[in-house]
Amino acid sequence: MTTGLTTRLATPADIPVLTPLMQAAITDLLSPVLSPEQVESSRMIMGIDSQLIADGTYFVIEIDGQVAGCGGWSRRNTLYGGDHTPGREPALLDPTVDAARVRAMYTAPAFTRRGVGRAILDAAEAAARNEGFKAVELAATLGGLPLYRACGYQEVEAFTDASGGAPVPLVRMRKPL
Ligand SMILES: CC(C)(COP(=O)(O)OP(=O)(O)OC[C@H]1O[C@@H](n2cnc3c(N)ncnc32)[C@H](O)[C@@H]1OP(=O)(O)O)[C@@H](O)C(=O)NCCC(=O)NCCS
Repeated sequence: MTTGLTTRLATPADIPVLTPLMQAAITDLLSPVLSPEQVESSRMIMGIDSQLIADGTYFVIEIDGQVAGCGGWSRRNTLYGGDHTPGREPALLDPTVDAARVRAMYTAPAFTRRGVGRAILDAAEAAARNEGFKAVELAATLGGLPLYRACGYQEVEAFTDASGGAPVPLVRMRKPL
């Protein structure tokens, strides 16, 4: 485990730091698994979701005082996407029947493979469990798949999203809490 890793809730003041961190993660960490056209297309369906920050369900991870990553969960229906992504569904989920969402996970390229993603999932799953949810679901990028598999998520269905141009492969995944 990485020492000096801390988890806190994000605030609107973090957005100027988190936005370029997300863009760097998309560029550097998705390029090995997607074509350049698919990386550009991913920007339409990924990015900052300020609703999560307003809801108090978005976390910032710091390592030795530096912002190393971010991600969170949601009690709302939207499965993935940023403020600019079409088709958002802010309706509240019912913890007795619905799965909470894990949302918008990004690690700064300089801090990969140091447990940032795992720490975000731990915090998100614990918070969703505290609100009574019995399962979590997410839409995984090809870059996120190895993390989610390592953390106990099962694949539900593969699909593509072409709303940003080139079709981007995604996988819906689920984990019981
Ligand atoms: C997905 C992402 C958040 C993972 O972040 P991370 O902080 O590097 O992940 P962790 O260090 O917590 O990894 C935990 C475990 O997941 C697995 N894992 C994570 N990244 C992996 C990779 N690139 N290749 C293989 N296994 C990987 C490993 O089992 C790892 O444990 P280990 O390092 O002890 O072997 C990061 O790669 C990212 O920001 N990608 C671009 C944006 C994106 O696609 N986000 C996901 C949206 S669904």
